[in-house]
Amino acid sequence: MIALQILCFTLVLQWNTAQVDANSFCSTNDLHALILARGGSKGIPLKNLVEVNGLSLLSRSIITISNSSCFKHIWVSTDDEKIALEAKKYGALVHIRPEEYARDETSSIEAIKEFLEAHQTIQNFALFQCTSVFLKEKYIKEAVDKFQSHDCVFSVKRSHQLRWKLVDKQILPDNFNLKARPRRQDWKGDMVEAGMFYLSKRVLATKGLLQNENCAVVEIAAEDGLEIDTYRDLTIARCIMDNNA
Ligand SMILES: *[C@@H]1O[C@H](CO)[C@@H](O)[C@H](O)[C@H]1NC(C)=O
Repeated sequence: MIALQILCFTLVLQWNTAQVDANSFCSTNDLHALILARGGSKGIPLKNLVEVNGLSLLSRSIITISNSSCFKHIWVSTDDEKIALEAKKYGALVHIRPEEYARDETSSIEAIKEFLEAHQTIQNFALFQCTSVFLKEKYIKEAVDKFQSHDCVFSVKRSHQLRWKLVDKQILPDNFNLKARPRRQDWKGDMVEAGMFYLSKRVLATKGLLQNENCAVVEIAAEDGLEIDTYRDLTIARCIMDNNA
């Protein structure tokens, strides 16, 4: 009996140590998470506050990012009061974004530059898109781990789509050879940006870049790649989460 208790105790101890080791790069990292969540979203109005399985897109992202324990702070850059309230409710810090950086035509990189301009001490950041509802802690940890030895890390998904292009009125294969059509089982596929997150550095962002030639990627499983842009995407996400819950 005592032997069993000691064994159990030792196992728990080993497990705890393993946990700490696995995450040590996270807690020492001076990395800031950033969510760009403006009020005037196209397609679905106030999309960031739309709920899926009891949590808004914004709060779900904040909770998952927070659960990973990889970030010094989680920032939400917004021009909208309701979004700011939701962000604070879940423990994020709010950066009030000027209206001229929250327009339809504002690019993410412009909004990031505006944020970094206002927070000069932040060197490393991770942009998260809360439209990627299937963000998971394991992806975040893999990304932060790879960011130790790279300038940038972003999410990708595999695509086995055969692309064609129009060149001088001629339809030509773009990513495969006509005479050797790849079979799915022996073709790894193309890597396509999944848009779930982008880890990068101030020195890149101030040049208007999120990526350079020293990036690493995190591969997102096909079933986690859904991004909410339309009501149809929302219906699909709700359906999947309801059935997994
Ligand atoms: C965050 O962690 C808590 C506690 O472990 C867990 O119950 C919850 O499901 C997690 N939430 C998300 C969105 O990852």
